[in-house]
Amino acid sequence: MSEKDQTASPTIESILNENRMFHPSAEFAAQAHVGSLEELERWRARGEADPEGFWAEMAQQLHWFKPWTKVLDWQPPHAKWFVGGTTNISYNCLDRHLTSWRRNKAALLWEGEPGDSRTLTYQQLHREVCRFANVLKKFNVKKGDRVALYMPMVPELAIAMLACARIGATHSIIFGGFSADALKDRINDAGCKMVVTADGCWRRGTEVKLKPAVDDALLHTPTIENCIVFQRTGTKVHMEVGRDHWWHEMMATVNADCPAEELDSEHPLFILYTSGTTGKPKGILHTTGGYLTQVALTTKWVFDLKEEDVYWCTADIGWITGHSYVVYGPLANGATVLMYEGAPNFPEPDRFWKIIDDYRVTIFYTAPTAIRAFIKWGEQWPLRHQLSSLRLLGTVGEPINPEAWMWYHKIIGKGRCPIVDTWWQTETGAIMITPLPGATPTKPGTATRPLPGIQIEIQTKDGHPVGANQGGYLVIKRPWPSMLRTIWGDDERYRQQYWSEIPGVYFAGDGARRDEDGYHWIMGRVDDVINVSGHRLGTAEIESALVSHETVAEAAVVGRPDDLKGQAVVAFVTLEGGRTGNDELKQKLREHVAKEIGSLAKPDDIRFADMLPKTRSGKIMRRLLREIAASGVVAGDVTTLEDFSVLEKLRTDEE
Ligand code: PRX
Repeated sequence: MSEKDQTASPTIESILNENRMFHPSAEFAAQAHVGSLEELERWRARGEADPEGFWAEMAQQLHWFKPWTKVLDWQPPHAKWFVGGTTNISYNCLDRHLTSWRRNKAALLWEGEPGDSRTLTYQQLHREVCRFANVLKKFNVKKGDRVALYMPMVPELAIAMLACARIGATHSIIFGGFSADALKDRINDAGCKMVVTADGCWRRGTEVKLKPAVDDALLHTPTIENCIVFQRTGTKVHMEVGRDHWWHEMMATVNADCPAEELDSEHPLFILYTSGTTGKPKGILHTTGGYLTQVALTTKWVFDLKEEDVYWCTADIGWITGHSYVVYGPLANGATVLMYEGAPNFPEPDRFWKIIDDYRVTIFYTAPTAIRAFIKWGEQWPLRHQLSSLRLLGTVGEPINPEAWMWYHKIIGKGRCPIVDTWWQTETGAIMITPLPGATPTKPGTATRPLPGIQIEIQTKDGHPVGANQGGYLVIKRPWPSMLRTIWGDDERYRQQYWSEIPGVYFAGDGARRDEDGYHWIMGRVDDVINVSGHRLGTAEIESALVSHETVAEAAVVGRPDDLKGQAVVAFVTLEGGRTGNDELKQKLREHVAKEIGSLAKPDDIRFADMLPKTRSGKIMRRLLREIAASGVVAGDVTTLEDFSVLEKLRTDEE
């Protein structure tokens, strides 16, 4: 069931033909960090000729306690960057800014969904981080220990991350939308010693509780010693005596004196779980010095970040985008970061636009799925607001369809703001393919070209480069500073998953083509990973969840195109012992998946079948299922059965 699709096409057809091109305005270019194509080409040539020299120059802009002795130690597929150097990302994000006027600059501007707000200057943030680091120490959390963070979008999540990083504890953030089961599995996989959570948070005007899920998870997590609970909503929660402690009570017991630990450049900074092609989520491990270098550089160059900017990335910190571009990248640059707790359409669909006007946001980074929702809600909502402070827009998470790009450009950017379409992954840690807004002419729908110092190619399955406009597999040919170092606890899987499919290179899981201008058009995942509203889900993971239900014998999950979400989850299910499916069971199975993984993985469609189409060797023919799911050929349960038998017969000779 979790085997990879052997029937996938080796090349990928691309039907998109987009010729519009947008050049950076002279005005934008004149003030940009990288202000012309010539300058970008010079950097690119430098990155090509001497990638290690290029990255070393970038790393030098950060604070190192001790300089490195070697830029890169590459024992494929394992890289060590800035070998022998010591640094601390919390120091780089905070202490470094306290020696100048920046100490009184707003680091975080936070708005809660009900409309409450808080501002933390760099000095105040530093103080909170030092205090929470002392709370961690008080509970015996030490360098190298893992701490799970299961929190809403409140400043305390950033504070907890920076506190872990400060003392060298490795954080593992689990998105608040994951279920108790998913939380438990992730805590156990990383062997976390502590969990930090909140009572709840606000979403679309109602309270979403977090603590009960933690209570359930902690029934089966032997390594957890203590749980710190931040009070956000004030709802009544169970506090287990001896294990659970209120954040505010613990913070009152410590002082703010906590120097940042001097950490090796390769010290594990965080684990972040992401979906792959097999059932179990992968704990992607990122380390310190290289990650810091690439997130700091990309935040500065790609978002053209300046001292005066108000920068807003709408991602939840529970995803990699939030790690790199809400917290570490912007704070390392001394930026003012806006954070918002709640939904984009509460109390009305113009909440984001209101926030942009209220805080005079200058840089706005969001996901195509959000943009498609804004389009659906109607342009009357953004048109109620001026949006005159905006100067740069960004997107991430999935391919943006050119029409959505144009809408973003016209309605939000008023034709004035460059758009940076940034391609990267949990595994890459930082942006890899992107325009630089003062230099790169953009075309709607393409992330354009790799950053200087990054070497990307489109290849065939056996490792040969393909020609212009031919679809192929997106690979990365050289190690990069913010790359994942391994899969936590499973180095063999790391080798297998990323470095063995196509010989000698990192295979990203995406199909792409490069056009005659060298621009990269991402065509989506070619593996069994689907992208629902910018959230990455492994089909195998959802299949395992379905099969764990007592009525299910076998399940195959595929994605189907969805106007709003990018992809929707379609599950084909066979039932135990000749049972027949009905709407009630469909509902039960959807709830079951929500319980096992989280609501985000709930199938949009469940179709019952007597059998699934398979090759003679027993592999489910997903390509076929994808076609059926997309074209809607299969309307009901009975026809499903018939179609499958016919299709199966048709395909048996094809192996
Ligand atoms: O398929 C690509 C898509 O999102 C995948 C990575 O997902 P995740 O690890 O969750 O990280 C998302 C945020 C960095 C990629 O393999 N993807 C991401 N950005 C883009 C994209 N597809 C097209 N264009 C993008 N700009």
